[in-house]
Amino acid sequence: MKIYKAKDYNDMSRKAANIISAQVIMKPDCVLGLATGSTPVGAYQQLVKWYEKGDIDFSEVKTVNLDEYKGLPIENDQSYYYFMHENLFDKVNVKPENTNLPNGMEPDAEKECARYEALIQSLGGVDLQLLGLGHNGHIGFNEPGAAFEKETHCVDLQERTIEANKRFFASADDVPRQAYTMGIKTIMMAKKILIVVSGEDKADIVAKAFFGPVTPSVPASILQMHPDVTVVADEAALSKAPC
Ligand code: F6R
Repeated sequence: MKIYKAKDYNDMSRKAANIISAQVIMKPDCVLGLATGSTPVGAYQQLVKWYEKGDIDFSEVKTVNLDEYKGLPIENDQSYYYFMHENLFDKVNVKPENTNLPNGMEPDAEKECARYEALIQSLGGVDLQLLGLGHNGHIGFNEPGAAFEKETHCVDLQERTIEANKRFFASADDVPRQAYTMGIKTIMMAKKILIVVSGEDKADIVAKAFFGPVTPSVPASILQMHPDVTVVADEAALSKAPC
C-alpha cells in the first residue's frame, strides 16, 4: 500500500487526477472503476480541465461505477447516474455506451447484480478502481460486517450512512433504503485501487482502515491485502495515522 500525503483537498484532487490520467495515457482503452460522493469531485474537475486542454482523451475508456441507489430513476439528481453525468461524463469525450452503472430501477436484485458482475468480467475486469472512504470504513456500500467474499449485491443502508447522505435529500425519509454495490470481492479483483480521503473527520477511520487490523468491522481494512493500492489523503485525514 502506497500512501501519498497531500497538503489539502486541492492537492489531493490533483494527485488523484494525475494517477487516473497516467492510467488512461498508458492504456487508452482501460476500464476505470469510478466512485461518487464528495471526495472525488475535485479529481473529476481536474480531469475535465485537462480534457479541455487536450491533455487527456477518454474516447476509448470504459467505466463501471461502484454503486447506485435502488429505486431512484436516473433523472433524479441524487442518483449516481446523474452525479456521474454532471461531474464527468457530460464534460469529457467518454462514449455514453462505454459508461456503466448498476441499474437502480431494476427491481430484481439478483438479476441486476448478476448482470453487473458479468458485465465487469466481460470488459476484462477493472484496471483502476477509484474509491472514497466512508466514516464507518465502508467502501462502495459495503458496510461494516460485510462479507469479504461478496460480489455485486443489494444492501440495506445503515442508519449512519442514511444520516450522512440525507443532506442531499429533502429529508432522511427520502434517502433510499437500499443500494446495489460492487462487493468487496469485486473491488479486490481490480488490478489497481486508488482511494482518496480528505478532512479531519476521516482521521480516525483512516488510522483504523490503513494502519489497524484487517477486519470486516472496517471494510476498507481489506485493502491492506491488495497488491496495488494507492492512498491519496490530505494532511487532515492523515493527522491520526502513524506516518
Ligand atoms: C460512492 C461510494 C461511497 C463513498 C463514501 C465516501 O460511490 O461508494 O462509499 O465513497 O461514502 O463519501 P464522501 O466522499 O462523500 O465522503
